[in-house]
This record gives sequence, C-alpha cells and structure tokens, in this order.
Amino acid sequence: MDAIDCMKTRRSIRAYEDRRVPKETIEDIVDCGRLAASAINIQPWHFIVVEGPAMRKRIADTTDYGKFIEQAPVCIAVFCEDTKYYLEDGSAATQNILNAARAHGLGSCWVAGDKKAYARRIGEMLGVPEGHKLVSLISIGYPAEARSPAKKPLSEVLHWERF
Ligand SMILES: Cc1cc2nc3c(=O)[nH]c(=O)nc-3n(C[C@H](O)[C@H](O)[C@H](O)COP(=O)(O)O)c2cc1C
Repeated sequence: MDAIDCMKTRRSIRAYEDRRVPKETIEDIVDCGRLAASAINIQPWHFIVVEGPAMRKRIADTTDYGKFIEQAPVCIAVFCEDTKYYLEDGSAATQNILNAARAHGLGSCWVAGDKKAYARRIGEMLGVPEGHKLVSLISIGYPAEARSPAKKPLSEVLHWERF
C-alpha cells in the first residue's frame, strides 16, 4: 500500500475477526515502531506483544476505554524508559505501529497508557521494571468493522507562514 494512502485511510478499529496474526507480521509491525524518530536518538522503547487470552483479558479489564483488547488477537504495550522525551518518542513509535498495521491490512487502536491511573498496574502485570512508563496499549487484528470519524478539514488547520 502506498504510504500516503496508508496514512490517509488509517482509522481506529475496535472490532476484529477471530483470526491469528502471523508472527512475522507482528515482528515487522514492531520493527516499524523501533525505527521511529527519537529525541537525541535515545530510543527508550520496549514493545511487549501480548497474545495470550488470559493476559489480554486482564489488560482489558484494567483499562477504562480499552475493553475491546480482550477480543483483539494481539495487544502491543509500548513502554519507555523514563527519559525527558519518553512521551514524544513512545508516541512516534505508536503511530508508526498503527500505520504499519494498516499497511499489513490490519486494524488497530491506540488505547491510552500515559497519564492513566492504571499505567503502573499494567507494568506490574507484564513484569516491567520500575523506571518505565506505559505510553500506549495497541490492539491489533483483522478488521471486522469500518470506521469514518469526522476529521477537521485541512483549511481549518493548515496555516501558511502565520497562524
Ligand atoms: C493518546 C491517545 C489515546 C487514546 N486512547 C483511546 C482509548 O483509551 N480508547 C479508545 O477506544 N480509543 C483511544 N484513542 C483513539 C482515538 O479515540 C481515535 O484516534 C480518535 O477518535 C480519532 O479516530 P481515528 O483514529 O479513527 O482517526 C486514543 C488515541 C490517542 C492518540
């Protein structure tokens, strides 16, 4: 898929087919996360792929707006070492993962991690050492829905030279 098409057609998908995602595909998606831009190239990220249904259910139950993680065949938890730009770095990696999933014909959704009261609890469940921040939980699977949320028009957000 053309990169521009991929970015323009990606939408959050929260319903998935009951179908496994091949391991090589998951690895390729995480590889795209690993190659994201990173302040001072620190690359503070760690990506935890969770396929086990019991752990996915625990994660889903712990979130407030991520209950659909239980139904997704894959959940990727993006953690970053607590560096100055961990949130920007982890967010760049997360967006790469969403786009890579789309390019592989998969649906995905970014579920909030950073700032959530449950962030540390998820880290404990997954054996993440202290000093790491949960940036996002990403559900991934073959889409079982099509979404088209309203987007602001370009003319409203694009400014040339000045605001
Ligand atoms: C930082 C962040 C946190 C998000 N957290 C959640 C979440 O907890 N649950 C959820 O269903 N969607 C979550 N989303 C997805 C947004 O709801 C979604 O991106 C937005 O509605 C725009 O839709 P689109 O992704 O289809 O363009 C989050 C997105 C971002 C960037």
